[in-house]
Amino acid sequence: MSETKESSYVTEALIAEDIDAYLEKHQHKSLLRFITCGSVDDGKSTLIGRLLYDSKMIFEDQLAALEADSKRVGTQGQNIDFALLVDGLAAEREQGITIDVAYRFFATEKRKFIVADTPGHEQYTRNMVTGASTADLAVILIDARKGVLTQTRRHSYLANLIGIKNIVLAVNKMDLIGYDQAKYEAIVADYAKFAAEIGIASFTPMPISGFMGDNITTQSPNMPWYKGVPLIEFLETVELNVTADQDKPFRLPVQWVNRPNLDFRGFSGLIASGTVKPGDAIRVLPSGKTSTVTRIVTLGDDLPQAVAGQSITLTLADEIDCSRGDVITAAESPVQVADQFETTIVWMADEPLVPGRPYWLKLGTQTVTATIHTPKYQVNVNTLEHVAVKTLELNAIGVTNLNLDRPIPFESYAQNRTLGGFILIDKLTNATVGAGIIHFSLRRAQNVHWQALDISRDTHASLKNQKPAVLWFTGLSGAGKSTIANLVEKKLVRMNRHTFLLDGDNVRHGLNKDLGFTQADRVENIRRVGEVAKLMTDAGLIVITAFISPFQAERQMVRDMMAPGEFIEIHIDTPLAEAEARDVKGLYKKARAGELKNFTGIDSPYEPPDSPEIRIDTAKLTPEQAADFIIERLIP
Ligand code: ADX
Repeated sequence: MSETKESSYVTEALIAEDIDAYLEKHQHKSLLRFITCGSVDDGKSTLIGRLLYDSKMIFEDQLAALEADSKRVGTQGQNIDFALLVDGLAAEREQGITIDVAYRFFATEKRKFIVADTPGHEQYTRNMVTGASTADLAVILIDARKGVLTQTRRHSYLANLIGIKNIVLAVNKMDLIGYDQAKYEAIVADYAKFAAEIGIASFTPMPISGFMGDNITTQSPNMPWYKGVPLIEFLETVELNVTADQDKPFRLPVQWVNRPNLDFRGFSGLIASGTVKPGDAIRVLPSGKTSTVTRIVTLGDDLPQAVAGQSITLTLADEIDCSRGDVITAAESPVQVADQFETTIVWMADEPLVPGRPYWLKLGTQTVTATIHTPKYQVNVNTLEHVAVKTLELNAIGVTNLNLDRPIPFESYAQNRTLGGFILIDKLTNATVGAGIIHFSLRRAQNVHWQALDISRDTHASLKNQKPAVLWFTGLSGAGKSTIANLVEKKLVRMNRHTFLLDGDNVRHGLNKDLGFTQADRVENIRRVGEVAKLMTDAGLIVITAFISPFQAERQMVRDMMAPGEFIEIHIDTPLAEAEARDVKGLYKKARAGELKNFTGIDSPYEPPDSPEIRIDTAKLTPEQAADFIIERLIP
């Protein structure tokens, strides 16, 4: 029988004999999370297989598969089992290659490990980012025959960006270059140059062979010139980030408020940094309210102290407001609060970023709406050049400003990974489309304050004796939006209502004359019109807008800007064939002839509303009837 199996029998026997002793033994080991990355065919599967195999703690399902395989093949012996294991890992990764990161668990006498295994291809950058976001250490693998490659650079750049402090440069397949010291040193020197350029302060180089087992568990006799420790020993002894996080100021992003009864109110979450004790003075952000910690409650006894990485519930001396998304901090060193930031974003979706479009932004336990500006530049990770761009495509890394719909407590990513790192989520599909880090807040957010004015929107509205509203017409070009909107306005004015009509063609002659019909320009068109409409409702007006407004996301954005019930979406539902047949302005003809690019319905999409407040079927109603129908619905 193989060594692996024997040792697993020992482990199983130990578990059977004394499960408590077994659990106890592993519970007190520290946990190192690391990621392996590099280029295609760098021998990652072999190395991971080797780590699992040599650590003799293959996790149970992997072990079962291995046993089944070796029975089937009817072979015995260490090398065969090792090869089978590696094949199994590779096959498993092939299957899951596009969806995720494979996390593998193993342990040695000294430590537990979770390794995130991600594919090397450029198109899987997002997997690498996902795997790296929780890692303490990155093993950058290099094929000794090939040296530093594009992916080596990309992954090192990302690992550094994500804030991984410990980088191991594993020069693999040393057996295939005859354990040549000079070649190894040339690769290390080459990498050192790139590392210095991107600001990697230090890294640990190591010549290894995953396949042969050189410098994995023991010092390789084939490379006596290597004076460092073998890989596993390094992984077992490297200092963990958690220790460093404990020395930072106290921060607890509140995950939920625990209120089982009126006598108990606890604030629960995972401590992002620092230490807390009963009696400590705290401050809750963004409100800025202060109090004192009374208890640290856990499932068992109360704790005298808790540190970064622990999940706890705090109770406070005062009944102050504090809810999910707030951050409890040490009173004397609070975090900042802002709503505009400079960030670096890694784009992870096939659909490029749409500047100006609202996305969900999740940071710590907070979810807010973010709009991202046109990127300042994209970074070419190979040359480190800054490239001017209008958007970010799949896998692009760019620096850009963004603003949020409300101020949030945060820290720069360099200070705190939890409170400075975020993900971006598409509001319609709920897919994660990007990940980013905060560099700093833009002071504008702190210096430009909203003025509280004495004459309120209520005053304006009541002087006009009406309830403000936005009648948002949407539909294809030539659907009849302007015609019907015009009639509706005339009818409202006859009823002594104060109105204002914003029409696409007209606004594009003035306020928006700098905008065309690309997706980005249409988004900006609607954003500006939304803001203007909002100001006009503040002035007490009934605003009527007639814009194609082809995208659901931006119509939703405008809806969210208005007071509840004030936004009334009116879909002028004319089929494309009908609008094209009418072709009042002759634009469809031009678009079909290819003389007009990005024409809605032809080579630019229209997303009809799912549930508009009012839908007008223009095949059934004349414009006059449609206008009457709308007025009846508004003023029954
Ligand atoms: S929107 O998509 O950004 O909401 P908007 O309503 O302002 O469009 O402008 C649409 C009007 O611009 C159309 O009615 C048409 O007269 C004109 N137009 C010119 N080029 C295009 C185009 N490529 N796509 C759609 N409309 C266009």
